[in-house]
Amino acid sequence: MHISRNALQSFQFLLIMTVVTNFISEALGSQSEHTTTKKDQQNLYTKFRLYTDEGNCQIFVNQLETLDKCSFNASLPLVMIVHGWSVDGILESWIWKMAAALKSQHNQMNVIIADWLTLAHQHYPIAVQNTRTTGQEIAQFLEWLEETVQFSRSNAHLIGYSLGAHVSGFAGSFINGTKKIGRITGLDPAGPLFEGMSPTDRLSPDDANFVDAIHTFTKQHMGLSVGIKQPVAHFDFYPNGGTFQPGCHIMHVYNHIAQYGIAGITQTVKCAHERSVHLFIDSLLHKDKQSTAYWCTDINAFNKGLCLSCKKNRCNTLGYNIRQERLPKSRRLFLKTRAHMPFKVYHYQFKIHIINEIQGKPMAPAFTMSLAGTKKDANNLHIPLVESITGNKTYSFLITLDTDIGDLIMIKFKWEGAPVWANIWDTFQTIIPWTKVKSSDYFGCSSFPCLFQKTEQKTCNDSHCFNPLRNFNRAV
Ligand SMILES: *[C@@H]1O[C@H](CO)[C@@H](O)[C@H](O)[C@H]1NC(C)=O
Ligand SMILES: *[C@@H]1O[C@H](CO)[C@@H](O)[C@H](O)[C@H]1NC(C)=O
Ligand SMILES: *[C@@H]1O[C@H](CO)[C@@H](O)[C@H](O)[C@H]1NC(C)=O
Ligand SMILES: *[C@@H]1O[C@H](CO)[C@@H](O)[C@H](O)[C@H]1NC(C)=O
Repeated sequence: MHISRNALQSFQFLLIMTVVTNFISEALGSQSEHTTTKKDQQNLYTKFRLYTDEGNCQIFVNQLETLDKCSFNASLPLVMIVHGWSVDGILESWIWKMAAALKSQHNQMNVIIADWLTLAHQHYPIAVQNTRTTGQEIAQFLEWLEETVQFSRSNAHLIGYSLGAHVSGFAGSFINGTKKIGRITGLDPAGPLFEGMSPTDRLSPDDANFVDAIHTFTKQHMGLSVGIKQPVAHFDFYPNGGTFQPGCHIMHVYNHIAQYGIAGITQTVKCAHERSVHLFIDSLLHKDKQSTAYWCTDINAFNKGLCLSCKKNRCNTLGYNIRQERLPKSRRLFLKTRAHMPFKVYHYQFKIHIINEIQGKPMAPAFTMSLAGTKKDANNLHIPLVESITGNKTYSFLITLDTDIGDLIMIKFKWEGAPVWANIWDTFQTIIPWTKVKSSDYFGCSSFPCLFQKTEQKTCNDSHCFNPLRNFNRAV
């Protein structure tokens, strides 16, 4: 395999992470129960641990009695959790959280943890090579289940994190026969040595009947990113653009230390990468707060609020409850999230027509807005400007709210001009009680060099406005 200079630099980065974490685990005296590299009696490196309330029970390929002993139920679906590269040789805590979340929501399923620590606790490039071996072993396991207890592979759902996403992909491509594995979910599939590779050398939509992926840490570092950037699934989700995640900034290291002790430092390193996992767990735990993501050409269009449509299946649900629909081409879906669980935010598009009578002088005013809804109010929302205002044009903005405010009753809109405009614009505030603008085409600051245009007639009675205003689209 040819390894580029960038790839090598990235290894250095990842190796630094190894050194840091090894240092920490040594400092804590918690050197892992190091697994030997000797193959077990079934000639497999991978251990298949069936998760139960009491702990876990290992199933051995070619030992039928272990299926009974562990109470594997072949008439129920199987979800298999596949971990990623391991720096300390122990199963990370998210694995148990994920297993418990699956079990608590869907007691009627087998949850198996594919423990490939022996092969994953290696230098990164070696662990990468080992993803094929592990994929092959998982395929063998599924074939064995099919032969012995007629468990259909289409009832299997592999959830792979980081390198585990590609392991799952290889399982899908190595399994013999024409039928495919039911579903593969890639949680921030690893980038280094996979980005730009051919579909047979990484997770791809061909690997299962349905493939979804959540990309959370694709920020470039020395030319490469920890998570893969390119689409690898039928639906590829890019929360907050996919590059980095809210609450993961190095500034939050102190919160992580408060929460995890000294291990909080590694938690910070992994924060955005592992966010993919917690978004998925969130989808299991908060049925009433499912996050919706929207098909969009790029993050800039999304950040203008231009893509908040669910028509013609343009949106989908992030996580376990995704609408499984096979499309000929990968779809990139975008959404914003909060920094913690439940991650869901409510997306709105706000459109405003501005006529700047002083032509040719762009402004960069700061907007804030307050909304009154039937359920709640939301005050002093900052409206991020994506472009400067040149005038006589309709601008579109994305606004996200933590809570569902219900139907909109009133908007309070405020902006402050740039200093140079201060004496012309001052600071003014427009209060728009929707019920009072029924008949006019325009409303707002007509005495200033601007107009807010009502772009569409809306239906209002004295207390309610129906049919979300055209200039304020309420998304899910
Ligand atoms: C397996 O699951 C099915 C469906 O829920 C149930 O009817 C059956 O009793 C279970 N079998 C065992 C051995 O628990
Ligand atoms: C697929 O078939 C080949 C040839 O019979 C066999 O060697 C292999 O173990 C089978 N399973 C997998 C997962 O490769
Ligand atoms: C704004 O644009 C519209 C349509 O292009 C035009 O009719 C109108 O006169 C313009 N208004 C100003 C103030 O430039
Ligand atoms: C306005 O519509 C709401 C919702 O349908 C209704 O409850 C309310 O009575 C209406 N108000 C008037 C004054 O018609």
